[in-house]
Parts: sequence; C-alpha cells; structure tokens
Amino acid sequence: MTKNKRANFGSKLGVILASAGSAVGLGNIWRFPYETGNHGGAAFILIYLGCIILLGLPIMISEFLIGRHSQKSTGGAYSVLAPGTQWKWVGRMGVLAGFLILSYYSVVAGWTLEYIFEAVTNSFSGKSANDFIDSFNSFSGNPWKPLIWLVLFLLATHFIIVKGVEKGIEKSSKIMMPALFILIIILVGCSVSLPGAEKGIEFLLKPDFSKVNGEVFLGAMGQAFFSLSLGMGCLSTYASYFGKNTNLTKTAFSVGIIDTIVAIMAGFIIFPAAFSVGIQPDAGPSLIFITLPNVFQQAFSGAPVLAYIFSVMFYVLLAVAALTSTISMHEVVTAYLHEEFKLTRGRAATLVTSGCIFLGIFCSLSMGATKEYTLFGLNTFDLFDFVTAKIMLPLGGLLISIFTGWYLDKKIVKSEITNNGQLKGSIYVYLIFILKYIAPVAISFIFINELGFLK
Ligand code: TRP
Repeated sequence: MTKNKRANFGSKLGVILASAGSAVGLGNIWRFPYETGNHGGAAFILIYLGCIILLGLPIMISEFLIGRHSQKSTGGAYSVLAPGTQWKWVGRMGVLAGFLILSYYSVVAGWTLEYIFEAVTNSFSGKSANDFIDSFNSFSGNPWKPLIWLVLFLLATHFIIVKGVEKGIEKSSKIMMPALFILIIILVGCSVSLPGAEKGIEFLLKPDFSKVNGEVFLGAMGQAFFSLSLGMGCLSTYASYFGKNTNLTKTAFSVGIIDTIVAIMAGFIIFPAAFSVGIQPDAGPSLIFITLPNVFQQAFSGAPVLAYIFSVMFYVLLAVAALTSTISMHEVVTAYLHEEFKLTRGRAATLVTSGCIFLGIFCSLSMGATKEYTLFGLNTFDLFDFVTAKIMLPLGGLLISIFTGWYLDKKIVKSEITNNGQLKGSIYVYLIFILKYIAPVAISFIFINELGFLK
C-alpha cells in the first residue's frame, strides 16, 4: 500500500481524530447554528440529518476509497484512477474550493482569536446583550484588527502543515478534540438552564414544515457537505494517508456521528441562550459571537471566576477546532502543489498561505469597510460562502458519487470497502445503489429546484 513511503497516520485513533478534527470546526459551532436560525429551526435540522445519512456518509466512504486507493491527494487521484479522462477536473475543482473556503473560513477563525484575547483580558464581564452586539459589530467592521488575527491564524496553520502529517495533524487532534467535547457538554447544561431557555429548545425540536422551501433544502445540503468536509476531496486526501487496515466504513460512521453530535449540541448551547436574552435566531454569522459571551456572563453571574475560566477555555478550544479544520483544507492545496508541480512542501505551503491571506483580506473587509460592494446582494464574504458551500461542494459531491457509482471499477470499490476481502463489507450493495441513483438524483433535484437557474 505504501508504495512510495507515503506519510501515514500512526494509529486507528489517529485516523478518526484527524478526520473528525477536519470535520468538527466552525462549521458545527458557528455555521450550523446560524444556518439553522436562518432556515427556521427544527425542520431544517431534520432535512440536514437526512442529507447526512443519504448523501454525506456514502460520499464520505467514496472519498475515502478514492484517496486510499490512489495514494494521492485529490488533485492527482483522478489521474491515477481514471487516466487520460476529464475526471481530473473534479480534483482540481476541489483544490480551488478548498482554497476559497480556507480564505473566508480563516477570517472567522481569526475572530475566535480576538475573542480569546477579550476573554483573557476579562472584557466580557459586566456587559449586557446589547453591548455584545455593539462590540462584535465594531470589531468585525474595524479595518485592521480582524486582519491581524486572520494573518496570525493562517500562520499557525502554515506552521503545522510544514511540520507534516503525523507530528502536526495527528498530535494536535488527539489532545484537543476530547477536551472540546467535554466543555461543550458543560455548556449545554448551562445554556438550557437559563431562564426562558424553553423557547430555544422548542425552536430546535418542534418542526414547522410550513417554512420549508427549496432554499431550506439547498441550505441543509450545503451545510451537510460543509460540516463533514465533503465534496472537495479533503477527506479523500486524508485517506491517502490511511493505513491498509483502516476500516473505511466504520471510520466514516464514527466521523459522521461525532460531527453531527457536536453540531446538535452547539444548537443546544446557542438557541436556548439566544431566546433567553431575546436575540433573534436569524442574526447570521455574528450569532455565536453575540450569544455565547452572554451565556457565560449569565450562567455564572454568581461566580465570575467560573465565567472567566469557561469563556477562556471555550474560545481556545473553538480556535483549536477551527485550526484542525483549516489544516485539512490547507493540506489539500499544499499536497496538490507539492505532488503535481514538484514544489517542496514548504514552498507549496507558503504559496497557499500567502494566497489565502490575500483573498482573506477582501473577505474580512467586506464585513465593514467594503460592505456596500455586493454581487447578487451578497458581500464578498457571503459570496465566497455561497459559491463554495452551496454550489461547489454539492457539485463536487454529485460528481464524486457518479465517479464511484458509475465509472470506477467495482472490484476497486469492493476491495477498498472490505480491505481486500478481510472485512464483510455488507454495506457494499446499499452504497453502490445510493451512489448510482439516490445521491445524483437528490443533489440534482435540490440544485434545479432552488437555483433553477438563480431565478
Ligand atoms: N468541516 C469543517 C467545519 O465544519 C470545515 C472544513 C474543513 C471543510 N475541511 C473542509 C468544509 C472541506 C468543506 C470542505 O468547520
């Protein structure tokens, strides 16, 4: 398997944690709550869960087997599996998507650093809900501050990427992921016990299907791809570092379950807290940065020390969760430049980091200074998010399912699912059926129904 002494994750746990580290990030804690809020709550969540099961897991298994079998990052995998065909464009589109997502994702990741700084300097204490709204707006609209954090965050990502797969990626995930999990559980407890939290819980559990339209479906599908790091070959690139004994199906289920639990729990932190202080659930990207500091202040109003400790810990872990995700996106682009253009890893990484800083500056400024410059009513930041999460990722997922379901030799699929006959692989028949028919039809239908075409 390791023909060319390709770097490998050191252990089974390492594989799961690194993949889950990619999946769990701002997508779960920042993007999932605001998309849920924008799309009306419980009904969106149900459709989202449907997308995870029907599209997410099968496509994740596809990405895994493409990566492990080709032993290449996504930018080169299709030239190995389908030489001389145009399938290579699926890989290339993935690389581009990764680069674009990394550019705006790092802006928000930078915000988490500012919030660590504010938590450490105790500037949340004594503030009201309205103060948090004002301070978020003045921070994100400030032309300089967010840029400094953006650059710092990308440099941290860069540093780990240059250190390599096992030492950098695997080690950091192993420590931080479990810590984040525990803190999230504590915060759910705090949030649901705030006064008036019931309304938030109801928002999450009581579906109102009258609000469901094509946009809700597109939003849920995009969020499923985004949150699971799918559709651009990110997990496929990681799978090229898996060992030959890694059980792909099991790994996909573990990652899917961990990712979904974290997202749902993030919902149970944000919405009870938001309703409790009267913040609208559809506040958009600022939602967690406004509600969360408030949760800490209110839940621990009798014990300011606890409020302090928990808020510092939370933002540190959020930044780390974001870091394990930015690493995974950076890796896709860096590995592509390294493998296909024979640049050294260091040079490739430097190019990626500088390019992302450049694009990130535009995304960041569009929250304030250049807010009025819009296309289709979206500023640069929102446009990047829309084009990648709602178009490029589902399109990538569509092509990946067609590739595995129709094009790829079924012997390869079977041998990857069963690790060359060692595992039962009872999922094989369902997998192929979903990849051949269900996923392509469902994704196309959601696309046509909503974009049809951009009305
Ligand atoms: N899934 C990550 C999150 O939820 C973000 C992410 C990492 C991602 N790699 C990706 C999103 C690849 C789309 C594609 O925060």
